[in-house]
Amino acid sequence: MRNLGRGSRTAFAVTGIPGGTDDVEAALLRTRLIEAAKEFSGRGGPRPLTVTVTNQPPGTAESGPRAGPTAETEAEAEAEAGPDEPSIAERARRFTATPPLYTFDRLVLPDRTLDQLLRAVHTVEQRRVLFDEWGLREIQPHPGSAINLEGAPGTGKTLAAHALAHRLGRPLIQARASQLESKYHGEGPKNLAALFHAAREQGAVLFLDEADALMSSRFETTTHGSEHAVNAMRSEMLTALDSHEGLVVLATNLVTSYDTAFDSRVWHVRFPAPDEAARAGIWRRHLPEALPLAEDVSPEGLAGVDEVTGRDIRRAVIDAAAEVLRTGRPRVRQADLLAAVERIKAGRPCRAAPTPMSISGGAG
Ligand SMILES: Nc1ncnc2c1ncn2[C@@H]1O[C@H](COP(=O)(O)OP(=O)(O)OP(=O)(O)O)[C@@H](O)[C@H]1O
Ligand SMILES: [Mg+2]
Repeated sequence: MRNLGRGSRTAFAVTGIPGGTDDVEAALLRTRLIEAAKEFSGRGGPRPLTVTVTNQPPGTAESGPRAGPTAETEAEAEAEAGPDEPSIAERARRFTATPPLYTFDRLVLPDRTLDQLLRAVHTVEQRRVLFDEWGLREIQPHPGSAINLEGAPGTGKTLAAHALAHRLGRPLIQARASQLESKYHGEGPKNLAALFHAAREQGAVLFLDEADALMSSRFETTTHGSEHAVNAMRSEMLTALDSHEGLVVLATNLVTSYDTAFDSRVWHVRFPAPDEAARAGIWRRHLPEALPLAEDVSPEGLAGVDEVTGRDIRRAVIDAAAEVLRTGRPRVRQADLLAAVERIKAGRPCRAAPTPMSISGGAG
């Protein structure tokens, strides 16, 4: 964007919306640029303002005065393509795929949620057949290419990402949205592109945690600089999702309002807090064969303790076993497990207990 201010009139000429940009995207970009220009010009007092947004390269724009680049735009260009800057392929080397750690038989979810998960994976995996060969792209130009696992902390989202990769016989590349962001202008989107590149190169399932940071509605952030960074990440995310062929698993603790651009591209699967039957299943899976258990240990009995997540249960088993070992006793009893889980509940910071969520989902 160039401020071509002269005399009493402020004129902006903006170039660079690539041809082929999604209409919605382009419209949003135009609106934002115009808003930014108005705000900028407002700082210099009320003056007439002209804003031209075009995809014409500099020097060929239909209208508007011209001038050389400002110091600011030069510096920005420098920052975007410095000589020492790593290429996308070089950045991609930072992301290494690892074998999945968990399988589906460790995961306890309502049948409906499991089914939803597997159906979404199937659709994503088969999107080339469905949308390209079978022509469904005609009715849905941006087929879903990712599954978004939504749920409270400790409800099994990371476990599910591993299980999905295992089911598909693929390694897993994991990253957090916050890892990708950077204080340097433009680094976040490049790191995101590199992450997708790495997944493609290594034939890996891509698991991106804290994904709400990349997909929530626009116009939410308050400061201008960060808003720009967030929007740049979001645009990169849309581009990456549209071209990526492999499975992308996103996870978030927030069931929030996503930017509508993601609705068609992402299948949402909600992870509920475990009910009593699910808790019994989770307790059972967290009592390994080799753990010396007293006769009285009963997963069904333990499941009576409510408002606990799978992660609480895992911690309780480890705490109880450690306590039994520390006090020189031979076996873990029901009372040890109950005491441990109650300690964990009591030690929780004052936050609302996970609320059971309704099960729904599917790409728009
Ligand atoms: N639904 C579940 N079924 C079986 N085990 C579970 C389940 N949920 C959680 N657990 C246990 O808790 C551990 C931690 O869960 P996990 O890391 O998958 O939670 P998460 O939803 O990814 O949490 P966060 O939002 O904090 O990342 C799992 O490795 C597993 O031992
Ligand atoms: Mg997790």
